[in-house]
Formats: sequence, structure tokens, C-alpha cells
Amino acid sequence: MSLIIALNKGRILSEVLPLLAAAGVEPTEDPRESRRLIFPTSHPEVRLIVVRSGDVPTCVEHGAAAIGITGKDTLLEHGGGGFYEPLDLGIARCRLMTAAPIETQPRLGPRLRVATKFVNVARRFYSARGQQVDLIQLGGAMELAPLIGLADQIVDIVDTGRTLAANGLEPKETIAEISSRVVVNKAAMKRQAGLILPLLDALERAVVARQHVEATP
Ligand code: PRP
Repeated sequence: MSLIIALNKGRILSEVLPLLAAAGVEPTEDPRESRRLIFPTSHPEVRLIVVRSGDVPTCVEHGAAAIGITGKDTLLEHGGGGFYEPLDLGIARCRLMTAAPIETQPRLGPRLRVATKFVNVARRFYSARGQQVDLIQLGGAMELAPLIGLADQIVDIVDTGRTLAANGLEPKETIAEISSRVVVNKAAMKRQAGLILPLLDALERAVVARQHVEATP
């Protein structure tokens, strides 16, 4: 019985594809240059699908894809069970952080307004600190929110910090360290262990080999 690996669109793909290739799973055409959404691969029993990041855990949770690869930020926002998270690929590293305009004092009085697309993560973060905030859900360009008076703070991904700096914002607190993770549907892990476990082993070896190359001067 064959299986599907769900990948997310965007910049993460360029880092994931070489690892998959090293693990013996190479799509028959480059997903970054195709309008196709499902790809046969060099592995006779594995196909790839390319979906929006938030749809990766959804596909895996429902068993439509046995395996998924996406960022920890997406998994934290999705929440819930339905899958195992057996492997950290150590790629697409960044941080999920709070950020605010440079040199603003903590706001007193009315509730803090926080703009983010990570509303579940933000709700958990502020409520764990006993802080009540008004969450404003945006689809992207969160850095804009404080500049146009929509919010006092944002919760967003910070990689180089250039987007924050370019918009007069500074990072405040780290909510989570992010990297790409492999998730596996729980039922598939039992039913298709003979196919999935060797794939996970091969991916893990590819991750170790990549880290070794990176560490070599
Ligand atoms: C992400 C994130 C930040 C930016 C951070 O956006 O939302 O805006 O990257 O990177 P930096 O710290 O290196 O500047 P992305 O470009 O992925 O687009 P998005 O807004 O659609 O998430």
C-alpha cells in the first residue's frame, strides 16, 4: 500500500527536497516549478503533495497523508493530536516571538492589542502569564499592525530580524524555537510501519549527514 507525504509550499521546500532526495524520495518533476499538486517520486510507493502550511497537519491528522513535513510554528498553532512528531529536520530554523515598536514602554491601562496569524499560540502564551489581551487575526504582514495603529504588539516568526528592523520594531520575548518537523499519522504508523520506519531512518541519516557537512570547516 502506497503513502503520501504532505509538504508545505514556500521557502521550506528548497530545504526539504534535498533531504527527501537523500532519503530516496525524489519527485519526478520539481514541485517549485509545476502547477501540479501531487507528484510521483523515485520511490515506487511514495507520492508527494504540496499544500499550504496549515493544511499539512490537517491532511496528516485525517490520514489523507501518512507523513507531513512542516514548521513547528504550524504544528503549535494547529494543536491537537492525531499524529506523532518523530523527527526534527533542523532546517528552516527561526523563532516565534513577540515584538513591539522600538522604545515603547509596556502599556498600562487598556488591554494590550496583539496582531498575529498565530492566534492559538498567542492566546496560550498570554493566558499562561495571566495577561488578558485582545487578539487581532491577520493573514500576514503582521509587522504593519503597530505602524497603522491596529495593534500594540505582534506575535510572528523572526529569522534574521530584518523585517522587524525595517519597520521600526524590536523582538521582545521568544515563545518557541522553530524548525521543520516530520509528523506521522498514528494509525498509518501502525498499519504501514514497514514502509514508514525505513523512510524515517533514511531521513534521519540525511539530517545527520547534512549537519556533518555544515559543521565541517
Ligand atoms: C516571515 C515572517 C516575517 C519574516 C521574518 O514572513 O512572517 O515577516 O518572514 O523574517 P526575517 O526575520 O528574516 O526578516 P514570510 O516572508 O515567510 O511571509 P508571510 O508574511 O506570508 O509569513
